[in-house]
Amino acid sequence: MTDVARTTATITRLGHQGDGVALGPLFAPRTLPDEEVSGIVDGSQLTDIRIETPSEHRVQAPCRHYKSCGGCQLQHASDEFVADWKLEIVKNALTAQGLEAEFRPLHTSPAQSRRRATLAVRRTKKGAMAGFHGRASGVITPIPDCLLLDPALIAAIPLAEALAMAGASRKTPLSVTLTTSETGLDVLVREGKPLDSTLRGTLAALAGQHGVARLTWEDEQVAMEQPPLQAFGSARVCTPAGSFLQATRDGEDALLASVLEITKGAKRVVDLFAGCGTFSLPLAASAEVYALESEPEMIAALEAGWRQGKGLKKLKSEVRDLFRNPLLPEDLKPFGAFYEAAVIDPPRAGAEAQVAQLAETQIPTIAYVSCNPVTFARDAKVLVAAGYRLNWVQVVDQFRWSAHTEVVASFTLDG
Ligand SMILES: C[S@@+](CC[C@H](N)C(=O)[O-])C[C@H]1O[C@@H](n2cnc3c(N)ncnc32)[C@H](O)[C@@H]1O
Repeated sequence: MTDVARTTATITRLGHQGDGVALGPLFAPRTLPDEEVSGIVDGSQLTDIRIETPSEHRVQAPCRHYKSCGGCQLQHASDEFVADWKLEIVKNALTAQGLEAEFRPLHTSPAQSRRRATLAVRRTKKGAMAGFHGRASGVITPIPDCLLLDPALIAAIPLAEALAMAGASRKTPLSVTLTTSETGLDVLVREGKPLDSTLRGTLAALAGQHGVARLTWEDEQVAMEQPPLQAFGSARVCTPAGSFLQATRDGEDALLASVLEITKGAKRVVDLFAGCGTFSLPLAASAEVYALESEPEMIAALEAGWRQGKGLKKLKSEVRDLFRNPLLPEDLKPFGAFYEAAVIDPPRAGAEAQVAQLAETQIPTIAYVSCNPVTFARDAKVLVAAGYRLNWVQVVDQFRWSAHTEVVASFTLDG
């Protein structure tokens, strides 16, 4: 057998997935800048990696599953390193657009606070096994001591396995999305067998035994012990199964605190890409809110939450595709209203068309929330060109140990 030659390389930076990158580019997962590493070159990947000279920022991964599990990417780096790296990502994205800003200290969500997880669950000879997919593989890694997830999600692993035994095919793993709520777990299952009356009965019984608030199988609700409620200010919202939710309650609180600070004193606020009312409903405690969102079910949930909320000001909501049909300055005029603030929280693609119109509205204050620094910076440039000042940026790391970054930024109209 011939020995495959090992190559040595120096890691120069982290790529956007959190992998180390050496000249080439050569991608080396779970390495850090300035580390000397060796491994086998496979295309643009370095495999069978050995760390020859470790970085001063390398730490022992806190989670015992990290070596095999693909759920986290950055547990081998110190918290300080990850915080600096995430701040740099946002700064560099702004610099690339010719912008700079004051940065507030990064806020990181604690361990065990992720409130939603999608587990892969496959049937085995003896029963079933739930976990996360392994690193770059389809193998499922069990995660009984996962440090990322809220303990209520870990406690539901036996439920996920029971669901697979009841309704997974032999070939395809079940995809089980677990979300914490005020009233118990909200469970959404995909890739299962088609429902029939026997399976419906078994699933409803399992939901009852495990104290699940709601169980949804593909698009069908098979059990609802209690509506799964999320607290948005004084309102309680039954969010549609699988609909968007900020990754941690802690992260949501940090984003909301910034949004409330930026929009303070505004009597009328437009909330663009409003979801189920994460920002609209707390804002409605002190301002009239105009909430826009493309998903009708989310708007229905937001409205129902508002109706039950206490002491909330007027809410106007609209189902609208803000990519194709952005809110225009003239759309705000018929209401005879002067909107003093806007909140905008688009998906990863950003909000190119909407931001161009938002700039025209000249609404004096904008809170921009984003999960993508590149599209955020692109849109920020449009606002700045239209006369807005980028006052400050708060980076919120609610995606702990991953390469994702969340940002909230304050813009006001100069002059
Ligand atoms: C990042 S989430 C933010 C939701 C909400 N602000 C929150 O914090 O929970 C982006 C939202 O934009 C909605 N969305 C996606 N594409 C859209 C579009 N073209 N027009 C309007 N809303 C859209 C999604 O359904 C989702 O609710």
